Amino acid sequence: MDAVCRFLTASAALCQMAWAVHERDEERRFKQEADLANSFIGLRHTIHSLQHTASAIADEDTALAQTCLKVGHNILIRLDRSEKSVHPIHDQGSRLGDIWTQDVVEAFALRLVDLIRQYQAIYSPSDVLIRDERVLSSFRHNVPQVQQSITNKERQGRQPIQFESQSSMRNMPSFPESLVIDVRILKSSRASRPLNASVDLLNEFILDTLAFKEMFDRDANVAKAHVETLDWIFSENSYQGPTEEDFRHGLSAWLQVNDCNPIYWIVGKPGSGKSTLMKYLYEHPVTYDRLKHWAGTLPVLTAGFYSWASGSKEQRSKRGLFRSLMYQLLSLSHDLIPGTFPKLWAKISTMTSKERIALHLEWDEDELQEAFSLFIKSSLSKMKICLFIDGLDEFEEDHQELIGFFKELAFHSNVKLCLSSRPWATIEKAFQNIGPNVKLQEITKNDLCQYATGRLRDNVVVRRCLGRDKLGTDALLRAIVDRASGVFLWIKLAVDDILKDSAPEKGVSYLKDTVDQLPADLDGLYEKLLFQDQTDIQIARAASFLFLIESRETVAEFVNDTSASALTVWELALALEEEDDYHTDGDVLQVSDSFVLERCNSTVECMKQRFAGLLSLQGEQKQDRPRILKFNDNKDNIEDGITSIRQLADSKVTFIHRTVRDWLRDDSVHKRLEQRREASFDPHLRLLRSYVLRLKKPMDEIEHHRRFDEWWPDVILAMTHSRYINSDPKKMQRYLLNQLNKTISWLWDAKTDPYDHWAAKAFGFFHVRKKAPPIWHPFLCLATKFGLTTYVSEELDACILQDTNRVLEKEMPTVDEKATPLLTYATEFLCSRQQTIYPLSDPHMVRNLLERPHRINPGPNHEYTDFETKIPMTSWVNLLRVLREAHRRGMIDYFDTDTSGIERWAQIVRLFVVSDANVNAVVEADSWDPEISMVDVIEMLADTYCHPELEQIKLMIGNM
Ligand SMILES: *[C@@H]1O[C@H](CO)[C@@H](O)[C@H](O)[C@H]1NC(C)=O
Ligand SMILES: *[C@@H]1O[C@H](CO)[C@@H](O)[C@H](O)[C@H]1NC(C)=O
Ligand SMILES: *[C@@H]1O[C@H](CO)[C@@H](O)[C@H](O)[C@H]1NC(C)=O
Ligand SMILES: *[C@@H]1O[C@H](CO)[C@@H](O)[C@H](O)[C@H]1NC(C)=O
Repeated sequence: MDAVCRFLTASAALCQMAWAVHERDEERRFKQEADLANSFIGLRHTIHSLQHTASAIADEDTALAQTCLKVGHNILIRLDRSEKSVHPIHDQGSRLGDIWTQDVVEAFALRLVDLIRQYQAIYSPSDVLIRDERVLSSFRHNVPQVQQSITNKERQGRQPIQFESQSSMRNMPSFPESLVIDVRILKSSRASRPLNASVDLLNEFILDTLAFKEMFDRDANVAKAHVETLDWIFSENSYQGPTEEDFRHGLSAWLQVNDCNPIYWIVGKPGSGKSTLMKYLYEHPVTYDRLKHWAGTLPVLTAGFYSWASGSKEQRSKRGLFRSLMYQLLSLSHDLIPGTFPKLWAKISTMTSKERIALHLEWDEDELQEAFSLFIKSSLSKMKICLFIDGLDEFEEDHQELIGFFKELAFHSNVKLCLSSRPWATIEKAFQNIGPNVKLQEITKNDLCQYATGRLRDNVVVRRCLGRDKLGTDALLRAIVDRASGVFLWIKLAVDDILKDSAPEKGVSYLKDTVDQLPADLDGLYEKLLFQDQTDIQIARAASFLFLIESRETVAEFVNDTSASALTVWELALALEEEDDYHTDGDVLQVSDSFVLERCNSTVECMKQRFAGLLSLQGEQKQDRPRILKFNDNKDNIEDGITSIRQLADSKVTFIHRTVRDWLRDDSVHKRLEQRREASFDPHLRLLRSYVLRLKKPMDEIEHHRRFDEWWPDVILAMTHSRYINSDPKKMQRYLLNQLNKTISWLWDAKTDPYDHWAAKAFGFFHVRKKAPPIWHPFLCLATKFGLTTYVSEELDACILQDTNRVLEKEMPTVDEKATPLLTYATEFLCSRQQTIYPLSDPHMVRNLLERPHRINPGPNHEYTDFETKIPMTSWVNLLRVLREAHRRGMIDYFDTDTSGIERWAQIVRLFVVSDANVNAVVEADSWDPEISMVDVIEMLADTYCHPELEQIKLMIGNM
């Protein structure tokens, strides 16, 4: 790591000098350029020794060394150029400032700050080493003025970020004093143009940047179960017991009066219903009424946050907390927005709307915290605020710090906080004795007992047993409630379990013995139910089930379709059984209701038995994609039965509680399931098959139609599943995809036009498509866009083989020369995915296409007509055009070290070059860029980004 340390130090010095090249003062600048030249040699040595080290060490830190090395290579290339330009003899070369532009230096500095942080995280994770981070963050977002004229006075006024190492006492390599990155480097080159936007627009803008996708997810996921059991809290005439009465009065008082401690703390174990209670309180109208009492004449704002340890970063961090709370509160009080974000407001109000749209705000925590306290301060005399924050223990931040923050917040006279957490020592210590609080398990004893009694009495056999043995029943119930210690979920699963093999002759005491032997904590119970109680074969079955669920989550996330992230019973039913592989080649045939019922029933049985109640069914509450019941000519009586069968088939399989999900996600648990996986089982392949079977076995009467949109969402999922297929020993993929194409083609109400094909509808807007050249082999093009490398190669091989036979028969079909070729589709998302369902362009796909020239895959220089602009184009020129655009739009990073970044697309460029792509190609001018030759595009990219891969391509072209 010594080498990494030296590399970072030398790089920081270089960065500082490169920055100084933009000095206005001629004399100073000249001196800097000389210094820069001198430091080159030192840095070169450092990079070489790094190279040496990176290949020698093989522990977890290698990743950092490798990243440093990548940055090092990039710098070497840039140094080569700079050396030429400083040397007087080479003064035809560019000036230093053109190589180390302000943008480049800024990107360099950001990359270094990132690397230094990583380095510190490895060597001194607990020390606070980055001083003045606030300077960095506040600077990053608030630079309305042009920085081109920095006088010496200003220079002294601003502090640089200093990275200090306190690790010297531990014999770690330490950073010398000189490791300093000037904060002015970051975002220094922003220009500003005064222009006024409407206040509403700016408010909306700020609210938009605060919002994040999962903001209300957790809120929606909080279990609604047992909610009715909470109704006693606000109902005047239900007496539960002394503890419950205390809680009821205490809570009421806390909500409506001023002189209580402003923090109310709810503590309970996981699964004891904290989130449910929190949500109940937060949403209950009586809560609001009581708070209005507290607020008097002022308005009351409330906001809630449910933190979630296994959710996204924003769902478990203070940053997410601030964003969500401010979003909720400011949405209700727009007039406080400018005062909450004074600097940001000033900055964006002088921006053009285009600049604003391009502005990518990375909120950081300090900045948000500052804004939040500004908000609280400015709201002081205008309103009262009550915040409901669930799950303090689930925040990833240091809990002590979090507690400090909440306590400080509670000093403001207009704030009340209702907090909840698990009974963890630090949190307990902080809140237990300072203000009102409630231990959930103390007030839910009655509810739990009632619930357990109800569950037990539902079973006829057990009810009779209980009736005969009053004392035994009391003891049993006490045992259950004690062991559950407040956790509803535990009782549910435990009662399921003990009822499984109860028998009248065994009596109540047998049940109690069983309860006494159950693990008292949830994880232990899950372990027993899933592993200890099942044979290996049964566990393997459970594993398959789970992997299907997870595969769908992966795919739904990739295509950004949350409505599809849980599988329906019907989807699972057609994915579970291996035998169904043999039922995919038949005709499309409407299935009988009894078939659907039988399949769904056995799927649900399997779920219940293998998961012992850890998975549950969720009815279609809100139909995201309604399946319209057509041909409604079946009359009344049967209708009910059918509807319930449909409901069963459409209901979704979900985890009963998030602790189940968290437990299953745990590495050790997951590995054990992984080990039991049958080798031939591939969940993605099964889900592709499931879609083909669903097409072949429709529940509704068969209808030929042209409503593309009814198929498309499922096609997207099936195609994406295909891309993830890992194990396909029976070679099913190609067959299944062709069945998919064939089946939808059969269902498609085709026109006589020979080019009419369902898959063509996936390309571009109707008005564009209408005027564009026809799409040739639309399904193959679609498969190319979805990155189905194996499938496309196999199809091409088949075409090539077929042609060899055709040549003998002298009957080659004609080709549409104008159609966009596969190679172009394969390189559409070269540098960025933005908001698409398709993956980034893949070098493997491109290689396979280039290796299989064919009439329908005519190579890089084949001329066709561009789909949108109608100008003549080749796949090669199009690729260059895409790159030039990505460059112009700033979609390519400087100092990129990501293997799926420059490294990936440069490989694609190289594949084209070695496949005889036309060296003399020219990209025509468009409304943004002038005409440019292929050689110039490559040179520009190589010179701008200085990536070794690009450098090699440039040399290769030079030698051609
Ligand atoms: C922008 O607004 C300020 C005051 O809010 C006003 O003085 C200025 O003239 C406005 N500028 C333009 C270009 O409208
Ligand atoms: C499912 O099948 C089992 C056994 O065949 C039967 O007892 C049960 O009633 C069925 N369930 C449904 C919902 O039809
Ligand atoms: C898709 O189906 C259509 C219609 O049956 C057929 O013409 C076409 O060749 C199929 N495409 C592929 C790639 O199999
Ligand atoms: C995902 O979908 C949501 C809503 O459909 C949309 O607002 C969001 O921008 C999408 N995100 C991406 C990365 O595509």
